[in-house]
Amino acid sequence: MNDTFLRACRGESTSFTPVWMMRQAGRYLPEYQAIRKNLSFLELCKNSELCVEATLQPVDILGVDAAILFSDILILMEQMGVPLEFHENHGPVFLHTIRDSKAVEKLRIPDPATQMDFVMETIRLLRRELQVPLIGFAGAPFTCATYLIEGGSSKIFWATKKLIFTKPGVYHALMEKITEATILYLKEQIRAGAQAVQLFDSWAGVLGPVDFAEYALPYVTQIIAALKADDFPEGKEVPVIYFANNGSTLLELSVSSGADVIGIDWRINIADAIARIGDCAIQGNLDPFALLLSKEKLRARVGKLLKDAAMAKGHIFNLGHGINQFTPPKQAKIMIDAVHELSQK
Ligand code: CP3
Repeated sequence: MNDTFLRACRGESTSFTPVWMMRQAGRYLPEYQAIRKNLSFLELCKNSELCVEATLQPVDILGVDAAILFSDILILMEQMGVPLEFHENHGPVFLHTIRDSKAVEKLRIPDPATQMDFVMETIRLLRRELQVPLIGFAGAPFTCATYLIEGGSSKIFWATKKLIFTKPGVYHALMEKITEATILYLKEQIRAGAQAVQLFDSWAGVLGPVDFAEYALPYVTQIIAALKADDFPEGKEVPVIYFANNGSTLLELSVSSGADVIGIDWRINIADAIARIGDCAIQGNLDPFALLLSKEKLRARVGKLLKDAAMAKGHIFNLGHGINQFTPPKQAKIMIDAVHELSQK
């Protein structure tokens, strides 16, 4: 069992730097496209055997040091009762928007053990196969809320900010409900066998620090506290990674969430981030488009990043956001091999 990833999350010494990639299972892999040819993305997310296959692909093909459950952050919102569609080349669409108290009241808190057993079954099956740790995940409440309020993706988050600033009571009621559902969901993932969990806050960076502290962070803190309050099924504490995309102005606040690992995007030098996060481990932060560099330049970048991260309490090498769908897989392999070779102690 290669547990280097978990050791780095816990700030323990490792013989090399572990590496995985956000969105490592997905369209850039022809093997993923072969699975996807026969069914829709949502159908795939509900087929445990195929989710296992998609999860294993980057582990087998690229040699990453952690697997991440194949699913999507929006599946939980769908199970809360809002019909979801993925439109080709357009992204996710929720058929209703959640913008008033009536809509919030209608949202259900799913029992993940029964209603989302397809996710738990994927986790159980994966744990029998995997030789690297398995990461479970959820969207952080603010990011989930933006999708429900906007009805999909957004550039300026007009509806979300309007709700925050004109009907804060409705906004907070929505956040409380998402938070409650997320706590149950992540606890069940851990019970099923997830060995670490990541909270994806893809849109946190659209908030300034004062609003982040009031409207997003308290819910992340609440989730982490709830997870840490439980006994852990395998006796070992399950590390929590918090990734706030575009969050370099939010680092100190992010640390106060209680996360074990802070994920950073590529917009900040990792050495500067390490100096600011104190006792946490760090995950990141190569620009996903830097994977397009020539082999030599890419290896040099990896070497520089490893050096810049030398003072970290624990470093998990990753991209600064998800791998782009048009990236040649062989470029990802160059990065992963370079991390392993150049970080050997
Ligand atoms: O490999 C992995 O990382 C595990 C699986 C995973 C997916 N989505 C699969 C997916 C994870 C962890 C996610 C997280 C996710 N989903 C986030 C947070 C991370 C981030 O990118 O900021 C967000 C915001 C979503 C919501 C989402 N899902 C969007 C906006 C889209 C459409 C645009 C896009 O990037 O494709 C998806 C679809 C999606 N999620 C795909 C995959 C493999 C593509 C589906 C397909 O067409 O096959």
